[in-house]
Amino acid sequence: MNLLQELRSRFAPVLAAHVDQVAPLLTMIRPAQDDKFGDYQANCAMPLGKRLSKPPRDVAAGLVQQVDLADLAEAPEVAGPGFINITIRDDFLIEQLGKAFADIQRLGVAPVTEPRTIIIDFSSPNVAKPMHVGHIRSTVIGDSLSRVLRFLGHNVITDNHLGDWGTQFVMIIYGYKHFLVESQWQEDPIKELSRLYRTVRGLIDYHDAVKALPEAEELLGKQQQRLAEFENTDPGDEKSLARKLKKDIKSLNSKIRDQKEKIKNQRATLERVKSDPEQSDLAGHHKNIGQAVLEETARLHEGDPTNLELWTLFMQHGRADIDRIYERLSISFDVELGESFYHEQLSGVVQDLQDKEMATESEGALCVFLDNHDAPMIVRKRDGAFLYATSDLATVKYRMEKWHPDTILYVVDFRQGEHFEKLFDVARAWGFPDVEYQHVRFGTVMGEDGKPFKTRAGDTVGLEPLLDEAESRALAVVAEQDDQKPEGPEFSDDQRTDIARVVGIGALKYADLSQNRSSDYTFSYDKMVEMRGNTATYLQYGYARVNGIFRRGNVNIEVLRARAVPFQFAEPIERRLALELLRFAEALDDVVADYRPNQLAQYLFEMTQLFFVFFDKCPVLKSEGDLRQSRLQLCDLTARTLKKGLWLLGIDVLEKM
Ligand code: ARG
Repeated sequence: MNLLQELRSRFAPVLAAHVDQVAPLLTMIRPAQDDKFGDYQANCAMPLGKRLSKPPRDVAAGLVQQVDLADLAEAPEVAGPGFINITIRDDFLIEQLGKAFADIQRLGVAPVTEPRTIIIDFSSPNVAKPMHVGHIRSTVIGDSLSRVLRFLGHNVITDNHLGDWGTQFVMIIYGYKHFLVESQWQEDPIKELSRLYRTVRGLIDYHDAVKALPEAEELLGKQQQRLAEFENTDPGDEKSLARKLKKDIKSLNSKIRDQKEKIKNQRATLERVKSDPEQSDLAGHHKNIGQAVLEETARLHEGDPTNLELWTLFMQHGRADIDRIYERLSISFDVELGESFYHEQLSGVVQDLQDKEMATESEGALCVFLDNHDAPMIVRKRDGAFLYATSDLATVKYRMEKWHPDTILYVVDFRQGEHFEKLFDVARAWGFPDVEYQHVRFGTVMGEDGKPFKTRAGDTVGLEPLLDEAESRALAVVAEQDDQKPEGPEFSDDQRTDIARVVGIGALKYADLSQNRSSDYTFSYDKMVEMRGNTATYLQYGYARVNGIFRRGNVNIEVLRARAVPFQFAEPIERRLALELLRFAEALDDVVADYRPNQLAQYLFEMTQLFFVFFDKCPVLKSEGDLRQSRLQLCDLTARTLKKGLWLLGIDVLEKM
């Protein structure tokens, strides 16, 4: 049972007698911050008192009289200005705990009564480039959300929206035809593909900058001239004129700042090529590279055999690379419909937007203008090429028609925020309003130097070396732990390596999942595998500890479960741990409320801390009779909750470590 939900459902009818909207008041019933205020606290009497113009204490006293909690809680107490403190009755706790203990599959977590169909678009790397550390965030957050939502009974479809089409691929086709270094390709195809991409991209940017810089400088000149005119204008006495002038100056100043930034970047692009003789030579020989890439694109779209063959070749290499990572992370998807799947639908999408008079031409490009955005969504470029956004619109349509989802989650970097805001607005207006669109955004992975996580050489960190390093750090911790055992080391080298794999991958995932996803987080190999701290290693250790107890006591789990006795609370910590174990369902609700797996991580961490306090204070194997049995049951339920909880985060446990 979900205790919090139960309490809220008991308060709902009582509150409904006073207000129309009970939901905001119900959210003010929460777990108590401190044991001394009971187990749960209802703070809704304060806002309600204000609404009803009555002293909150009186309102609280009234609510307490009306709410029917007798079967599950002690008589609620009114404290301070009008807090209602609720303590769950021990007999009720014991009954619920017994039910959770007997429920091997779900640990007492009931499935939702109204399952939703939820599509989760996550991981979605660009196939032609090596996956980077940002993709790991999307991958582990998306995977964990899919596990939790599915466990709660929703109908989940996971979709890996691969970046496997578009200009980026064509740039590589061009690069392959002109700049391939055969030996490098043989040695590491993905690295070579990514070099080819960077080379072509760099040359295109260079020629674009050559063309654009004079115009940009001219525009800056004009803006500065206008600013000077504004500054020399006398607004006279009219206040509104003065205000308008001030506003114009401010906005012009900001435009000038942006323009200067743009020019600075263009100059840097030019400088990068000019200062490198090899690059300048290439630039000289590939003056029309932008046009040439467009022609390659057209050829690919028309099904030109060479280009299609190259595309297939790059896809194979890229996929193999990505799949190796998924394999190591144990990640899989229901469908993997990348951008290439949609490319034939794009002209139809654009046609439909035109037919519905949503898309209009502007400077040769086809745009959808939006009320709440300065820049429109471009759906077809001047040169006829479709864009990322066009492809995402086709994807919405396909998903809606195929699965009729209630919710679509996009687990993507926060930097794509504007893209998704526009996408959702356009998709709604286009004919798909009745679905919850969510950009489940996340922050940047930072290095310990406080800058985005990069290698020493300043390149993005590839995922394979990252996984290798995590496993090797884990191996060191596992070996140290094993060496310190009083009876001497327990594991062979092979066993240590196997354990380190689970510990290392778990640590890496948990380091990410335990962070509030909206913030940037600092990546640290050392912190990640700490034995004592908010790490997967600590939680895995807690799990292994319970198994150690069972081994030492020769406890047969099947027998333990078959002979279950009512739980006993001989020490306060036993009751405290028991209550925490019953809150598993609440933690999962918290994850779903705002799509934040860190709520589950935090719950598991606090639960494990309580377990260790319990373990410290209460002899388990040395106690006797039903108390011993009850304590063993607490251990078992802790281990099962840990195992299930970690599984929902995509993390494995170990019987021994
Ligand atoms: N391929 C994109 C990237 O790596 C992410 C795609 C996210 N999903 C989507 N439907 N736009 O940045």
